Amino acid sequence: MSTAVDQAPAQLSDRGLQTQLTELARDAANTPLKHRFKLDPQRASTFSGQIGPLFVDYAKHHLDAGILSGLCALARQRSVPQQLDALRAGAKLNNTEDRSANYPCLRRWASGDTGAKHDPAIDSMYSKMEALVAAIHEGTHRSSTGQTFTDVVNIGIGGSDFGPRLVCDALSNQHANTLRPHFAANIDPSVMTEILARVPAETTLFIVASKSFGTQESRCNAQTARAWLQSALGTNNVDAHFVAVSSKPEAAKAFGISEELIIPAPEWVGGRFSVWSGFGLAIALYAGMDSFRALLKGGYAVDQHVASQPLESNIPLILGMLDVWYRNAWGMTSQAVLPYEHHLKLLPIYLQQLFMESAGKSVKADGGPTASATGGVIWGTEGTNGQHSFHQLLHQGSDAIPCDFIASLSSHNPIGEQHQALIANCFSQSLVLMQGQAAADIEQDLITSGMDASAAQQLAQHKAMPGNRPSTTILMNKLDAESLGALIALYEYRLFAASFMWGINPFDQWGVELGKQISETLMASLSGDDNATLDSSTRELIARYRHAQDA
Ligand code: F6P
Repeated sequence: MSTAVDQAPAQLSDRGLQTQLTELARDAANTPLKHRFKLDPQRASTFSGQIGPLFVDYAKHHLDAGILSGLCALARQRSVPQQLDALRAGAKLNNTEDRSANYPCLRRWASGDTGAKHDPAIDSMYSKMEALVAAIHEGTHRSSTGQTFTDVVNIGIGGSDFGPRLVCDALSNQHANTLRPHFAANIDPSVMTEILARVPAETTLFIVASKSFGTQESRCNAQTARAWLQSALGTNNVDAHFVAVSSKPEAAKAFGISEELIIPAPEWVGGRFSVWSGFGLAIALYAGMDSFRALLKGGYAVDQHVASQPLESNIPLILGMLDVWYRNAWGMTSQAVLPYEHHLKLLPIYLQQLFMESAGKSVKADGGPTASATGGVIWGTEGTNGQHSFHQLLHQGSDAIPCDFIASLSSHNPIGEQHQALIANCFSQSLVLMQGQAAADIEQDLITSGMDASAAQQLAQHKAMPGNRPSTTILMNKLDAESLGALIALYEYRLFAASFMWGINPFDQWGVELGKQISETLMASLSGDDNATLDSSTRELIARYRHAQDA
């Protein structure tokens, strides 16, 4: 199977990558982070930079000029710049699905910089989206009862859900709330039941967002919505209430959605990268088309930075190299995303799909096994909530976990000094993770405050903080569509850089397929068909389900 890696000039084997990283790390480990700051007073400005509306501080990493140049050399040997050129040129980097991955060209649309290799399908997608949003907002497209829409339910899962849900939540402070957004992803019937209980049938619009239009969850939820509307409105004609976004417009039409209400997305736009495309319809309906364009504009600023900066000052790519550095040379298996911004609380979930569906691979793009570890676990929650939960483990647990702290410098909802307190917490966490506190210093403080020497010595062991734990801090002035677009694009490039260094294809997701197929088979078993080929554990679970239904 041919890949862009095959076409690139310089090559470095997986084992070579692992060996070189391990050698670099052997030296790096001798210098604790806090000493790096003492050694170089300019460190904060050397290892930070502005990228569009974002300021990124990566000074609290196991990094110096020599390590950075070593990581950049490895990235060059693994053809990261060539792969990014290929991505922008529309090469079929998603080789197992024979698709390109030219996400920058979606963001270019909002800037008018469409470029030579522009795909006309992009224009038709956005024109239809823009026209539909205007018709719904202006009331020229109305409900079957002739009313303007007040609520929109996005029915979609995975990439057809996380992006619009994240952006709508992030922008919920800032808009006149044109249409109230709701999100139905899970097939769990409680989700639709609870949404349908709070929306008015006469004025609710449903977006069926499914790239494949074959996803079980979204088809079932859409059927439920249609049956509910028909019954609530006492008519079979509820077509005006359904719009679709899909790469399979024919399947959406066959499902009963009117052709003029279907936004077609190009096939190459992958689910977890689709927030920039017509799949952002819920965002535009809620926050307005201008906000959707601003999201793209933020992403475009990052595209320009990535395309113009050498590796040594290319911030998203440096963050990707650091991911490889920690995963392969330091043995770190997870990373935490900690937004100190309530309206970015869904970011960790969004990034879980982006990173773990993309980089959760043990096979390289060319089909061979990877020799080094690839993507780890992404997790996190909003600060300060996490401080009263898992930060204990971040500070004193046996594993060092690199953290991303993300904050806005001004709040949309200032109250007294509360936002300042939030920022103080954010900055103190990264400081403490980096600096730690020695047992001897703690012991001395305890003795000074009157504790007897032996008790102080013992307690100091529990209170000691190892420090030396790396983190990145990303700041924006105020959370808005543009800064959010830049943030999402920054993470995309970070993922691409790491994936290209690992030699994997970050654009496919074959690992999710078998579970989907087996679940179809198990539907029959749960309905009562005995399947003797199943293992005893699964048969017992099925028996218990059957028993509960029969009771
Ligand atoms: O199951 C994984 C997946 O294919 C994701 O990659 C995708 O975002 C999600 O399902 C939803 O798929 P679709 O948009 O085709 O309904």
